[in-house]
Amino acid sequence: MNRPQLRLVLAISLDGRLAAAEGGAAQLGGAGDRQVLEEALAWADAVLVGAQTLRLHGSSCLIHRPELLTQRSAAGLAPQPLAIVVSRSGLLPATLPFFQQPLQRGLLRLDAPAFVAAPTSLERARQPERPRQRSLPSPPLQGRAASPGFARQWACPDWSSALAQLAAAGLGRLVVLGGASLATSLLAENLLDELQLTLCPRLLGGPHSWLGPTARVAGASQGGWRLVEQRALAGEELLLRYRRD
Ligand SMILES: NC(=O)c1ccc[n+]([C@@H]2O[C@H](COP(=O)([O-])OP(=O)(O)OC[C@H]3O[C@@H](n4cnc5c(N)ncnc54)[C@H](OP(=O)(O)O)[C@@H]3O)[C@@H](O)[C@H]2O)c1
Repeated sequence: MNRPQLRLVLAISLDGRLAAAEGGAAQLGGAGDRQVLEEALAWADAVLVGAQTLRLHGSSCLIHRPELLTQRSAAGLAPQPLAIVVSRSGLLPATLPFFQQPLQRGLLRLDAPAFVAAPTSLERARQPERPRQRSLPSPPLQGRAASPGFARQWACPDWSSALAQLAAAGLGRLVVLGGASLATSLLAENLLDELQLTLCPRLLGGPHSWLGPTARVAGASQGGWRLVEQRALAGEELLLRYRRD
């Protein structure tokens, strides 16, 4: 496997915003969006979330539906996908509820000096019974100390090496949970395979388009999207899923 499949999953307004004009932690989707978000999480080996989204929301999305948890268990997967925070700075307050959530955490530092660290003692203490993740080999130990709270850490100069390392760790299916900076940086390098957008019946205006005004989209990502699913959801929401081969 050269790199994982990447599916971007967002709830957006009818005018393409992912947050209200004033910014802050966006809560656009309703029950319908929650349903398809959990289905995407159930498909995934790991999620990627931008550090700013995590700082604003405090926690990551979890699968709650029993049938999805049963499905993952039957497939030999951990109950929740590995939650990987993407960051340059690596600065995340240790008080975030995220660090208490019942999931495995990873930190992917891009543009950072190369190092990879093993699970910390803090992480092992919090999760005496480690969730099963599909064949995750232990990464090599090199360089500096790990940030506490993360079971797995990677530092890579660019997306190409980051995705190769995630693939080598057995992570073949990634859900990208946003926000806009993270989505933009992946589209600039033609790395998103699928767009799962829940259109929510709201008009928000303001600057927070899901691809910001300065976004650069790689030529190959500008077209060729095939509609693979459309589904009317509760609350006048509409799921649209587009894929590129
Ligand atoms: N509607 C939805 O479905 C949805 C989903 C997610 C988020 N949102 C909303 O989106 C907004 C946040 O989006 P955002 O664009 O401001 O932030 P973001 O994409 O969540 O996070 C930006 C941060 O992520 C890290 N990052 C992103 N791309 C990187 C790269 N290529 N290399 C290294 N680090 C990278 C950096 O972290 P460091 O600062 O640590 O270096 C950067 O400052 C919030 O309003 C949130 O509520 C909405």
